[in-house]
Amino acid sequence: MTVSGAEQEKIQTPPAAEGLSAERIAYLDSLVRQARTASAVFTQFTQEDVDRIVKPMVLAGLERAQYLARLAVEETRLGVMEDKVIKNMVATEFTYNYVKDKRTVGIIREFPDRNLVEMAEPIGVILSLTPITNPTSTVLFKCILAIKTRNAIIFSPHPKTLHCCSEALRIMYETAVKHGAPEGVFTCLQAHTLQDNAYLMGHKDVGLIDATGGPGAVKAAYSPGKPALGVGPGNTAVYLEKTADLNTAIVDIIISKTFDNGTICASEQTVVIDDEIYDQAMKKFSELGAHVCNEKETKLLERTVMDPQTGFMQPLAVGQKATDIAQFIGLPVAPNTKLLIAPIKGVGPEHPLSFEKLFPVLAVYRARSIDEALKVCVDVNHAGGLGHTAIIFSRNDEVVQKFGEVINAGRIIVNSPGSIGALGAVYNDLVPTFSFGCGTGGGNSTTDNVNIFHYLNIKRVARRTQNHMWFRVPNQIYFNMNAVENVRQFPSRSTIIVTNPALEQIGHADIVRRSLSPQTYGHVLVIADAEPEIKVVMQGVEALDSYKADQIIALGGGSVIDAAKIMKLKYESPQADLEELATPFLDLRKRVVQYPTEKINRARLIAISTTSGTGSEVTPFAVLTDKERRRKVTLADYSLSPDVAIVDPQFVMSMPRGLTADTGVDCLTHALEAGVSSYASPYTDSNAMQAIRLVFKYLPIAYENPHDEEARSMMHNAACIAALAFSNASVGVNHALAHAFGARFGVAHGRANALMLPHVLEYNAAVPTKFMPSPYQQGYVAHKKYATIADLLGLGGHTIEEKVKNLVAATEKLLDQLGFPRSIAELGISREEFERALPEMTKIAFDDPSWRSNPRMPLMNELVELFWKAYEGRSQAKAAGGLQPGTN
Ligand SMILES: [Fe+2]
Repeated sequence: MTVSGAEQEKIQTPPAAEGLSAERIAYLDSLVRQARTASAVFTQFTQEDVDRIVKPMVLAGLERAQYLARLAVEETRLGVMEDKVIKNMVATEFTYNYVKDKRTVGIIREFPDRNLVEMAEPIGVILSLTPITNPTSTVLFKCILAIKTRNAIIFSPHPKTLHCCSEALRIMYETAVKHGAPEGVFTCLQAHTLQDNAYLMGHKDVGLIDATGGPGAVKAAYSPGKPALGVGPGNTAVYLEKTADLNTAIVDIIISKTFDNGTICASEQTVVIDDEIYDQAMKKFSELGAHVCNEKETKLLERTVMDPQTGFMQPLAVGQKATDIAQFIGLPVAPNTKLLIAPIKGVGPEHPLSFEKLFPVLAVYRARSIDEALKVCVDVNHAGGLGHTAIIFSRNDEVVQKFGEVINAGRIIVNSPGSIGALGAVYNDLVPTFSFGCGTGGGNSTTDNVNIFHYLNIKRVARRTQNHMWFRVPNQIYFNMNAVENVRQFPSRSTIIVTNPALEQIGHADIVRRSLSPQTYGHVLVIADAEPEIKVVMQGVEALDSYKADQIIALGGGSVIDAAKIMKLKYESPQADLEELATPFLDLRKRVVQYPTEKINRARLIAISTTSGTGSEVTPFAVLTDKERRRKVTLADYSLSPDVAIVDPQFVMSMPRGLTADTGVDCLTHALEAGVSSYASPYTDSNAMQAIRLVFKYLPIAYENPHDEEARSMMHNAACIAALAFSNASVGVNHALAHAFGARFGVAHGRANALMLPHVLEYNAAVPTKFMPSPYQQGYVAHKKYATIADLLGLGGHTIEEKVKNLVAATEKLLDQLGFPRSIAELGISREEFERALPEMTKIAFDDPSWRSNPRMPLMNELVELFWKAYEGRSQAKAAGGLQPGTN
């Protein structure tokens, strides 16, 4: 839905304007205008400018700490003057200590290794609600935060704190302006109503509402639907566990619960005490000035200090001394009583004292076990204190950890007082604050101790990262005629030679066996020359186990070598779950499933290829056939790469012509796809280009003259070199199409590739409908790289376009020379049958991981189009009549 300008204006008009006079609205608007102007001026300030202002403000606050504390107590009639002095000092000194060296202007943090920079931007105008319990300290604290972050604040203090807050604000404002802060940076709402607050909260120029106060204020702050920092109520559970240092714990609890007469919302509310130490703890409480109530006295407290209607504490008791409360309700206590302790038997509405009590009344619960203690603490936590604070006294780390796990609190204070502990930086390293985020449990946006970073919009400047790339290949590749003799140099006690029946029959396995060192026992394992399936793999593993093999030699085409790779994996790491390892991934380095590194056996894998196409002798891939589920899974990991590759042309001299052509075109497809892959690098390019050159030169010769040793040798090298490229750059959409089509119609892989190839070249050379996101490439380069390949092949052409056309034409010419069918139709597949198969094939092709590195992201309809082109065998180059101008 879009909103017109006029409607937008209507929406931005604060809904709470009703009930306010025009004069009042003008007054409120003027406050916002003033703050907005100040914040605009503030944006020009540097870090040094703001730091110059913050320090004198802190000093002024410290100097007037007692004065302001006195004013607060006189005006609110709650709390303890001496404690309020400490609060004012924490608000200034401790806050300063935390913020003084922090950067809050411009670049605030840099992460050079991540190419990431964080910059600060002020919020502008903040509306701040402050509470009755910590009036002046909260104002001092927020003023320092605001100046440090270049924000303006409109304060809306609790109505019963107007005088002391105005004074605190005056001191802060005058000092700030004197040292250069913009005029109007702090303003204070005088004698306000709830409507005033509502109007300001909804004002379009107020950027953030920061509400520290009761649940009503916090809820109101979240209501206008704009960013708000509202902190929730607390109900601090304390677990006094049997291993605790009891002397310290009892004193800490008394310090904390009596601090400012219990007005800090993080202060202790219910102490759950282990049975074993309960009596001792009660005795210590009494000795140190607490009055432990009997059952009747507890009932009296329940009735008087808690509101039976609402279940909340009685406002009259808030922040009062224990003796005053006792006197008020008619409870006889010793004159020096600091704290009233009420034993309770449960948590919830039937036990009113189990709720928050911001005065020196503490509930205690006797727990018979750790489990019971934790359960009661969780109950207290849920009875109005979610996300706030919890405390544990214990020397048992396990229990502390368990407590941390079960309690939902932004602050879990260990072995220290809750109220002062939660303020931060006194008893621990928490960030000093007067505003406790309670997370979603408390209906808040954060669990943090609110601080300067919540007063900033933090912008992250993320520079493009140059991801590390790699070129990983087996470190030993032996090639040329009789390279198999290199097998002898590898020490082995027991070697399993995995091969297929045909190769065994024509004596190739014997050649390999003869090349073993004399000390090696060699056993030949013949497996069916089909795609490897788990049954075959497990037979191999059995043989490896029974011969305690330390070396595997895979002699064969892609299937045999793939089978041997998986045998090695399962032999070395029997726990490897092949299905899980086949989980697809987008980025090799971020893959979810990792290959096992724990190995119970170790065996060297030597791969000797007997076809010139797949390059499996050097690749990290292995295809496994799952016959039961009638599917293939591809395993990919560099740990699958053979340790040694032997590229010996003697094993391909007798390859039939059809196989020569099929595997040769597979090799060409690998090189062409790796060449334009989004993962291509100069390392893979050099291999891809050379492989392409070799194929164009030698494949026709090897096809026509199978006994030409040079051509055979060079094609054998080309397959391996192309595999070095695609092992690292992967393939592309041609393979995705060929896999889907080949599997559906039982067409050999190389042949299926050939049917797609010219069309995919044209497709990738065109401006993509959808670019493939790739951090590795700069701009779209596929067409330029095809042109480079055309140049390398000496195909001529003046423009990139002409060169691409010439490459396509040369590829088609090569396919013609090799006698390939040039359309799917030529295979005898009817149009109707193809059309019926098309939707499923398209889905399968789209799911194929091969195209993830294609330079152009294929859309479903484009896959369909490519399939049809392959069906009809129409490439543009063909339509244009072959090679283009400038052809050599
Ligand atoms: Fe392939």
